[in-house]
Amino acid sequence: MPLVSVHELLSKAEQKGYAVGAFNANNMEIVQAIVTAAEEERAPVIMQASQGAISYAGLEYITQMVTIAARQATVPVALHLDHGTGFDQVVRCIRSGFTSVMYDGSKHPLEENIAVTKQVIAMARPVGVSVEAELGKIGGTEDNVHVDEREAMFTDPEEARYFVEQTGVDCLAIAIGTAHGRYKGEPKLDFDRLKKIRDLVNIPLVLHGSSGVPDDAIRQAIQLGIRKINIDTNIREAFVNEMRRVIAEKPDEIDPRKILGPARQAAVEIIREKIRLFGSSGQA
Ligand code: G3H
Ligand code: 13P
Ligand code: ZN
Repeated sequence: MPLVSVHELLSKAEQKGYAVGAFNANNMEIVQAIVTAAEEERAPVIMQASQGAISYAGLEYITQMVTIAARQATVPVALHLDHGTGFDQVVRCIRSGFTSVMYDGSKHPLEENIAVTKQVIAMARPVGVSVEAELGKIGGTEDNVHVDEREAMFTDPEEARYFVEQTGVDCLAIAIGTAHGRYKGEPKLDFDRLKKIRDLVNIPLVLHGSSGVPDDAIRQAIQLGIRKINIDTNIREAFVNEMRRVIAEKPDEIDPRKILGPARQAAVEIIREKIRLFGSSGQA
């Protein structure tokens, strides 16, 4: 079927109280793994392209691979720009065929983040493309920030209310204790903050840096209004660990397909697990 918008997927998730998995698509095998996992679970799914993926594979390749995967699929698939850098990139992605975009203005002052998010919405909404924004700073596990420093970057609930009121954005990524990449210890999520945000903001909320977050914390976050959950690192780990295992077992193997095929299957398995955890199995 044709690509759908994230707005459409999250509205249904909101009504029924589950979350949709947003998985980073970095190459053909991972695109295939995401769509296979979604088909096997009969789940709606979001494929997203990061800055790294766009510079690695190229925008046209990503768009075409995901569009073909969606066309062959019998479950709804959306194509989303992850951490978009600005208005120009958003325009390029929409022209290319993306059905949803994130504009990440979290490193800019609040009013500037609001102004650019509004420009993006003014351009995207008339063509049916949904928009995600970010408030607070999510950062990376490698950023070496102290817990107190990280807390200072968490999303302020009142600011979230003001931001949503000013922009009318479709969904909002919030900083409540997760970070991109592999965690050193166990991440602690600020559920009180999530609850406060949820009480003040009436749109689907997005959790970034969700790889390595304990299952119970994910379930609680969904109960408190998280509707889109971003996963990249866990797929990379599953994929590359399986490549390493095959290469170690068969050091003379020179056919990439014999290495990438099992890696693709390992990715299918971890994505299926996440889809089940998010409650989106059977919701296609
Ligand atoms: O949001 C961050 C993604 O997990 C990774 O981004 O593909 O640009 O390294 P990257
Ligand atoms: P992880 O790589 O930590 O799963 O984060 C993914 C993400 O938030 C992409 O935007
Ligand atoms: Zn992210």
